[in-house]
Amino acid sequence: MPIAAKKSPLRAGRKPTGKYIQPGIAAGAGLILHEVLQEDEKGYRVLSDLLRQLSGIHMPVNDKNLTLMACRLAPLFKQRGVDSYQTYLNLLRTKDSQVLHEFVEALTTNTTEFFREAQHFDLFPQVLKVIMDRKRAENSQEIRVWCAAASTGQEPYTILMTLLETIPSAVSWKIKMLASDIDRAALITASQGLYRATQLKNVNEPLLKKYFTLAENSPNPLYKVKKFLREPAVFAEFNLATVPYPFRYPFDIVFCRNVLIYFETEMGREVVNRIVNSMAVGGYLFIGHSETGMVRSPRLKMEANAVYRRVK
Ligand SMILES: C[S@@+](CC[C@H](N)C(=O)[O-])C[C@H]1O[C@@H](n2cnc3c(N)ncnc32)[C@H](O)[C@@H]1O
Repeated sequence: MPIAAKKSPLRAGRKPTGKYIQPGIAAGAGLILHEVLQEDEKGYRVLSDLLRQLSGIHMPVNDKNLTLMACRLAPLFKQRGVDSYQTYLNLLRTKDSQVLHEFVEALTTNTTEFFREAQHFDLFPQVLKVIMDRKRAENSQEIRVWCAAASTGQEPYTILMTLLETIPSAVSWKIKMLASDIDRAALITASQGLYRATQLKNVNEPLLKKYFTLAENSPNPLYKVKKFLREPAVFAEFNLATVPYPFRYPFDIVFCRNVLIYFETEMGREVVNRIVNSMAVGGYLFIGHSETGMVRSPRLKMEANAVYRRVK
């Protein structure tokens, strides 16, 4: 289920419906920008190269990406009072960090849902048991988890619910989670932990009761994540294109799902290598089911579909 996107293109004043706007319904500024970009492939390349430099996100020239770029940038043009694409390029060239950040944020895709790719959460208890055995052997009771493309929070909260449901006496274990993303606005939503009933359709009734409180009763009720579920998580901006990764202590479990697909293969493999450097030997990595081509590390052993264990 796509989340309600914060960067609704071309529909100012209306409720955002999602970030993908079909070419046929692009209108206004987006349509004009689309035409400009279509005529000026070189200009499009300047924008897509900059995006790749800043975030690793690869948007090769094709009609779908031209439309996407146009629709997502149009609201920024409006917001910044920019009247032409050339002026916007000049603005980007000033390297103002806020301008660059807005540009990247506008072009990220935040689609996510609770219990997405549910097979991973079916496997999770087994993985956790192996990790707990290793930790006991090391005399440690701390489990460090990294959700590396946390988007608006559905994935980190799913991981935490599954953890708390699996660990028999969670109190005796210290769970620490880093929930990061390049997109600040998405992380703000994540840290607020507010979701509509429609977004919670994959969360069963017992879990909903245990981990959420009703915040607003309406035809599509609003629920808030309970404090004890949010507490182990630290939400922080982090760009996976950063070299090297700065983490002092290794992670036992890493979820980096459905973000590698936005990178070129080489970049995706480099990201996976840096993630492996940040993991404990014996730690587990979960990636998206369509992203297994990005894993070529001899330090990783595949344990299940899109699940890997660091072996050295
Ligand atoms: C499609 S969502 C996937 C969300 C979640 N992992 C899932 O599987 O449901 C991709 C997320 O990756 C983030 N992202 C894109 N490029 C990134 C980068 N270079 N560093 C960190 N996060 C990035 C986007 O902001 C977006 O929230």
